[in-house]
Amino acid sequence: MAQDDNGGKDLTAADSSGLAHAEESAGLAVIARDALTDPGLPPHHERITDIDPKAEKRAERTVYTLFYLSIVGSVWAVAAYMLFPMESNNVGDVRLNNLFIGLGITLGLLALGIGAVHWAKALMYAKEGIDVRHPTRGTEETRARAVEIFQEANEESGFGRRTLIRNTLIGALVAFPLPAVVLFRGLAPQDQNPVELLSHTLWAKGTRLALDPSGAPIKASDVTLGSSFHVIPEGLTDLSHGEGYLEEKAKAVVLLMRLKPEDLHELPERKDWSYDGIVAYSKICTHVGCPVALYEQQTHHLLCPCHQSQFDVSNHCEVIFGPAARALPQLPIAVDAEGYLIAQSDFTEPVGPSFWERH
Ligand code: FES
Repeated sequence: MAQDDNGGKDLTAADSSGLAHAEESAGLAVIARDALTDPGLPPHHERITDIDPKAEKRAERTVYTLFYLSIVGSVWAVAAYMLFPMESNNVGDVRLNNLFIGLGITLGLLALGIGAVHWAKALMYAKEGIDVRHPTRGTEETRARAVEIFQEANEESGFGRRTLIRNTLIGALVAFPLPAVVLFRGLAPQDQNPVELLSHTLWAKGTRLALDPSGAPIKASDVTLGSSFHVIPEGLTDLSHGEGYLEEKAKAVVLLMRLKPEDLHELPERKDWSYDGIVAYSKICTHVGCPVALYEQQTHHLLCPCHQSQFDVSNHCEVIFGPAARALPQLPIAVDAEGYLIAQSDFTEPVGPSFWERH
C-alpha cells in the first residue's frame, strides 16, 4: 500500500482511465495500489543447531574442517606446480600439471565456499528481520544502533568468540591466492630477468624486414603509397618449430606503412628513421599488448581493436584516443645495397604495455 512521505497517510487510488476515485484528496499524488498484499514473513523455525548443543558443536567442527581442507588444497596447488613441472613440450607433463594444480585450486575454493555457507546457515544468527527504507544518512540514534548491530552480529556469528573457525577462515583466505602468485611468476623463465627479456627483440642492425608469415624479405619498391604490411625479422621463421618462437615473434612484430613524405611529421631526432615515407612501428599496443592491426590509410590512423586506442602514424604514432598511455615504439629503418628494407637497430624502448617503460 502506498503512503506519503510525511504522515504515512494512505494515498488514493486511480482507475485505469487515470480518473481518481471519489475519496482522493485534492493536491496529493495519485498512485495505484499494489495488486498484491504483502504476505509478511514466514513463521520462524528453530534450526537443529539452535536447540541441540551437540549439533551446534558438530556444525562448528564441519566448518573449521572445511577451512582446513581449503588450506590443504591451496598448499597442494603450490606443491603440484613444483612436483609436476612443464619443462618439456610433453603433453603428458602438461596434463599432469594442469590436473593437479586444478584439483588443488578447486579444493581450496570449494571448501572455503562450502565452509562459509555452512557457517552462515547452521551457526550464525537466524532470525528474519525487516529493514525499512530510510534516508541514506541516518540520525545519530540510527548510527549508534548500527554500531550496536555490528557488535551484535559479531556476538551472534561468533566471529570473535569462535576463534578456531575465525583463524582457520583467515588462514584459508590468506592461503587461497598463493597458487595465483606462484603461477604468474612461472610465466617468466626462472633464470632470466623478465624486464631484460622484454627490453630486447630479434631486431638488430642490418636485419631485413620480412613478410609475416612467409618470411620473404621486402624491397622498398614493393611498398606502395597507402599500403601496410605485417612484418617480422628475416630469419624468425627458422625458429618456427623451436622453443621461444612465439615469444620472439610476439615482441618483434611490426607494421610497415608508406605515406607521402610531406604527410610525415617526424621528430627531429628521428629524421633518418624512415625511408622515403616508409615507416615501421611496433604492432604491440602500449595499453595491454593486443596487436594493433587496423590501418585507416586516408587518415593514417592505426586502431587497436581491444579497447579502441588510436595512434596517428603521421605524427610518430602518438596516441590520439583511448587508454594507451604512450606512442607505439618506432623501428628505425633504412635500405641496403640491394634495395631491401633493413632495421638500423633494435627498438630504442621496450615494446608493449606502458608498465615496462617505467623500468
Ligand atoms: S590493448 Fe590496445 S587499447 Fe587496450
